Amino acid sequence: TLEYFQPYVAVVPSNIAFLKYWGKSDEALQWPANDSLSMTLSDLHTKTKAQVSEIPEHQVRLNDQEVFREDKVGQKIFKHLDYLAEQLQTREKLIIESSNSFPTGCGIASSASGLGALTLAAVAAWTASPSLEVLASKGFSMDRLIQWARIGSGSACRSLYGGVVHWHRGSCEKEQTVNQAFDESHWPLMDSVVLFSDAEKSVGSTEAHRSAWTSPLFAPRLASLNSRRDAMLQAIEDKNMKFLGPLIEQETLEMHGVIMSATPSVHYFGAETGKFLAWLRERRTALDLDVYFTLDAGPNVHLIYENHLHERVMQLLQETVDSSRILSDHMGAGPVLTVEEV
Ligand code: PMV
Repeated sequence: TLEYFQPYVAVVPSNIAFLKYWGKSDEALQWPANDSLSMTLSDLHTKTKAQVSEIPEHQVRLNDQEVFREDKVGQKIFKHLDYLAEQLQTREKLIIESSNSFPTGCGIASSASGLGALTLAAVAAWTASPSLEVLASKGFSMDRLIQWARIGSGSACRSLYGGVVHWHRGSCEKEQTVNQAFDESHWPLMDSVVLFSDAEKSVGSTEAHRSAWTSPLFAPRLASLNSRRDAMLQAIEDKNMKFLGPLIEQETLEMHGVIMSATPSVHYFGAETGKFLAWLRERRTALDLDVYFTLDAGPNVHLIYENHLHERVMQLLQETVDSSRILSDHMGAGPVLTVEEV
């Protein structure tokens, strides 16, 4: 039918973790070593269009460039398409067009939004489902889609809900679940990303997740994480930034401590980022401004604060960063799925 050959469009936002997913208990099954908590963003997203077509192989375009099965970026995408096709028992090929709302190569993790959007768009196209409701009615509940997105990229599973999202490790691979802990209206928070140069070629996250176990800090970290998780959830429930902020920072520094003390040792951020963090701590104390940092496996700094402080935070940043290096976003409502009329 015509419906089957229409382009299905998924918009999936990026997310920033407060409690980090770092290290896997089982790599093949994508089972994380610990629970994680994140805030889903809004404007920083990936938009992916998928359309069934009578072609011999999937055609994939990423930010207006064709990517192939053999390419470094292509590998992850094609592998995931193969996995999804197997789950759906289909041999139909797709034309995929995907683009990020943020500049490529700026160091913002695109794997969460990217693999999340690929999962939604591909499943929607293969099942001719124009909305999340229709997908669910055909047996593709969000729970099921989340497990598939997780196989594509761990952090992608947290991007399929809005608000604050909790990825539970569970007691075995099959028992891991993802749920929305708080919706986006509970506590309006912002994330302003300060971009720093990613000049030094960093080690990929798959390899770095693997070496986490070699760090002497990793076992003690895992032993204490549940109490940090509970404290964070309580702070979010209470909307208490003075309590949440330091926990977020401690978590970031601990993750980077593990990364730096692992074998091989990796440094994901350099002097410029370090200098900025020291500056931020000093200035926010002087101004009594509740703005706190977190970093992923890269040099960019994510500043977390309540929406109403946005102007003051921007004013503060003017002292030291050019506005062209700042990308501001807020907590969002999660993915959107639509169908384009042809
Ligand atoms: O999804 P991956 O395998 O790229 O892991 C990324 C993990 C961090 O972004 C560093 C932390 C997190 O929880 O998002």
